[in-house]
Amino acid sequence: MKAVLLVGGMGTRLRPLTYRIPKPLVPVMGKPLIMHVIDSIPSEVDEVIVPIGYKRDVMEEYLKAHPPGRRITLVDEPEPLGTGGAVKNVEDLIDGQFLVINGDVITSLDVASFVKFHRAKGGIASISLWPVDDPSPFGVAQLDSESRITRFQEKPKREEAFSNLINAGAYALEREVLDLIGEGFVSMEREVFPKLLDKGMYGYQFEGHWIDCGTRENVLNAFNSLMPEGSRISELSVSTGAAIRHPVVLEDEVVIAGATIGPRTYLSKRVVVGPMSHVVGSVLYDDVRVGIKCVIKDCILDAGFTVPDGSILTGEILSTAQPEE
Ligand code: GDD
Ligand code: MG
Repeated sequence: MKAVLLVGGMGTRLRPLTYRIPKPLVPVMGKPLIMHVIDSIPSEVDEVIVPIGYKRDVMEEYLKAHPPGRRITLVDEPEPLGTGGAVKNVEDLIDGQFLVINGDVITSLDVASFVKFHRAKGGIASISLWPVDDPSPFGVAQLDSESRITRFQEKPKREEAFSNLINAGAYALEREVLDLIGEGFVSMEREVFPKLLDKGMYGYQFEGHWIDCGTRENVLNAFNSLMPEGSRISELSVSTGAAIRHPVVLEDEVVIAGATIGPRTYLSKRVVVGPMSHVVGSVLYDDVRVGIKCVIKDCILDAGFTVPDGSILTGEILSTAQPEE
């Protein structure tokens, strides 16, 4: 069985971080987003197909340096083809029932059980569903008592949403679905799903967690949700005279002498925070240096970033990376 991983977006809402790395390589608790997704794909899947245009070279380099232990095929998508078009573009590599997975969410979906559900229902498509308070930024499904989807609407107005069950971004599909995707730019959700309703499209609800990682708030929320209860503090970090407000994660060789850290803060390897500074609700990647008397709240600071003494930063993503010419 093949899985198509959709990671082709440009990650505009995570700029300037995504000027350096594509969104799927954004590290979440020490592991790139894409590896959280790949690790959740069952062993029955013998090839993960990744259509990619934006920063393909950076992705290739990463995979070469950190082989994920399964077959990954990167396929060129020079211009974005949309979530449906990207799948159509790799149809020659798909031989039967297949999976499509949005690469920007971390979930507890048990993909093997989901595939079993799809086979038991026998429809042309099954999609995973997750309940949220405000479904308007998502795709929304209405289910009957047999879990069959009777209606689907992509990004409805809040008052027009007919349920709070959203498309959680994993699909199990029969190969015939490919024949219903046109050429060029095609949205799976807006153009293909409506054609599947008559042919049997089912919704699979699951328990646990579902974390969208498309924005700064969401990435911070993902760290927060995956943070161990208590804290995890490397023995190789130095925190003499520091105040730690749990939960925090301090990776190896972090130095926070005399600073206040946390709660909900992740400091990656070799981060240094100067005395009398406070870092809260934030993620600082490798080698970030924060001067003295700084306040950093709800921020993501890219690897190697330096914060001058006395800075006050709230709700920002900061990096020295620049857009490509
Ligand atoms: N290859 C490729 N080409 N991938 C794409 C393209 C494209 O043109 N456009 C988007 N993607 C990838 C994104 O990188 C992302 O991983 C996934 O497809 C979904 O696209 P988003 O742009 O993130 O869509 P969304 O978050 O607004 O909505 C989608 O996801 C929601 C759940 O997170 C929809 O599927 C909604 O129905 C769903 O509820
Ligand atoms: Mg998304």
